[in-house]
Amino acid sequence: MHNPAIRGLLFDLDGVLCDTAKYHYLAWKRLTNELGFDFTEEQNEELKGVSRIDSLTYLLKLGEKKLTVEQFEDFLILKNTWYLELIKEMTPNHLLPGVLHFLESSKKEGIKIGLGSSSKNAPLILKTLNITGFFDCIVDGNSITKSKPNPEIFLFGASQLNLQPNECVVFEDATSGVDAALAGGFLCVGIGNQKTLNKATFVYSGFKELDFNTFVKSLSQYERSL
Ligand code: BG6
Ligand code: MG
Repeated sequence: MHNPAIRGLLFDLDGVLCDTAKYHYLAWKRLTNELGFDFTEEQNEELKGVSRIDSLTYLLKLGEKKLTVEQFEDFLILKNTWYLELIKEMTPNHLLPGVLHFLESSKKEGIKIGLGSSSKNAPLILKTLNITGFFDCIVDGNSITKSKPNPEIFLFGASQLNLQPNECVVFEDATSGVDAALAGGFLCVGIGNQKTLNKATFVYSGFKELDFNTFVKSLSQYERSL
């Protein structure tokens, strides 16, 4: 039996359910190269969870480049065109290991499932991965005005599930996403690197390592430690 206080799970998409974070990086890297500079995977950590507009603003600052309003719009379109080209190769097999099982177990326990992604491409990717049907709500880059680390995305997600933040757990691979979850009053499971995500309530490298029972155990351990 799961922890009855937890009634909803809010999942980030890119880097949590599928490995699209690498495609975002490749598309941005191609764009910066077009603009005459480069940026590293380490610098890309700062862009995880960040909206398309805020990402381009960050990169222009990094490369000390200025664009006109029209150029800025054109580059946003170009980046997304390249990103869409890259994700064309995706199939349901691109769901990260253990994710399907975790979603199925959560559903079986009667837990509500929501998406909290900054990406405007999220509905397309869920469809490609064939997992849209698991989600009781989908909050994406089209539904919010403030990018992570602002908690808006997860607060809206919880309200869409008719739940309070303290009844939900957020799953995130980005520091901006962990910050957003904590600022909204959610517990947050970091998916990825322990060092990078050290502010999360607990961290796992992925759902291969974190099945539903392990998640429930970690939650109870955390509660006992309070
Ligand atoms: C987030 C990604 O999920 O979505 C970011 O972590 C990305 O890297 C952001 O920039 C916006 O995505 P999109 O698909 O709307 O450009
Ligand atoms: Mg992410």
